[in-house]
Amino acid sequence: QAASIPADRVPDMGKRQLVNLLLLGAISLPTAGMLVPYATFLAPPGRKGAGGGTVAKDAVGNDVIAAEWLKNHGPGDRTLTQGLKGDPTYLVVESDKTLATYGINAVCTHLGCVVPWNAAEKKFICPCHGSQYNNQGRVVRGPAPLSLALAHADIDDGKVVFVPWVETDFRTGEAPWWA
Ligand code: FES
Repeated sequence: QAASIPADRVPDMGKRQLVNLLLLGAISLPTAGMLVPYATFLAPPGRKGAGGGTVAKDAVGNDVIAAEWLKNHGPGDRTLTQGLKGDPTYLVVESDKTLATYGINAVCTHLGCVVPWNAAEKKFICPCHGSQYNNQGRVVRGPAPLSLALAHADIDDGKVVFVPWVETDFRTGEAPWWA
């Protein structure tokens, strides 16, 4: 009779599984709860200062010093730096030779290619599928559906610090899609 399971044992098995599930839940719930403080603990590295920003890095990984940058980058210049979350982000030099207070995230909103600045056309033109953005990163031609993301470019202790942009997008008057 080895093949047949006695009828009175079936509920037992079910009960044991239920107990196992409850135990699992009892163990995993506090574990999930403990992850939250860890997550908030892990977030601060990479952030700096009261504004919770990230120091911009140049092409070789050095902190961007605003005064030094302006010696080597003239009016209208848009050069890539490493920005928030490591995203390639353009620093903009205004016509009055000051740094713009915003940086432009170079990741194309279509499929994520890094969009180069075309100084002759005064536009960012994506090499992948031809999307175009004006000199502030506002989309002017698809297939990209959205403008390039913004970050605040502050100066702290002489260094350029990117801070998440959560306010209205000044180019479109709309809420920031990236925040
Ligand atoms: Fe830029 Fe497609 S990724 S146009």
